[in-house]
Amino acid sequence: MTPRPFVERHAKDLAPGRALDLACGTGSNAVWLAQRGWHVTAVDWSAESLAQVRHAAPAVETHLANLEAGEFEIGEQQWDLIVVSHYLQRDLFPKILRGLRPEGRAIVIVHMFEPGHETSRFSVQPGELGHLFAGGRILVYEEGNAQGRATARIVVQPG
Ligand SMILES: C[S@@+](CC[C@H](N)C(=O)[O-])C[C@H]1O[C@@H](n2cnc3c(N)ncnc32)[C@H](O)[C@@H]1O
Repeated sequence: MTPRPFVERHAKDLAPGRALDLACGTGSNAVWLAQRGWHVTAVDWSAESLAQVRHAAPAVETHLANLEAGEFEIGEQQWDLIVVSHYLQRDLFPKILRGLRPEGRAIVIVHMFEPGHETSRFSVQPGELGHLFAGGRILVYEEGNAQGRATARIVVQPG
């Protein structure tokens, strides 16, 4: 399975450890990480998507949970890598920073508001993703077109 290019670029040289993929969908990132030796936990509220993840990579631990309802506990200093790709839930970000081990990283990709489209709670404004992660140490920050959509992309460590 092909991961998101931004995830691939910033995870390919990391030593495998414990990874969490939130709102994993059918697992493009989770499956790729598992194939590279990561111990992956993948969360989504779609049972069908999680079944596809397990089919592609049986070692991935899947959790059926509504993240907006707080049904999955990220925990404290549990993860070497947390990936959130093409899913925006602002109140997860402080929890993600707390959930990372001191040298851990979060790789996050969210949709950006595009002029001419209606504003949506699922899109960030320019600069917003950086502000949302202001409590962390930002290693990479990008905004702009990627894979045919305007996105904001960040790699961040706990502050
Ligand atoms: C656009 S897909 C992105 C999937 C994957 N991360 C990727 O990059 O291809 C968004 C995913 O978020 C999941 N999702 C949306 N709201 C959710 C919620 N409240 N709790 C858990 N998963 C949710 C959907 O089921 C879907 O799989």
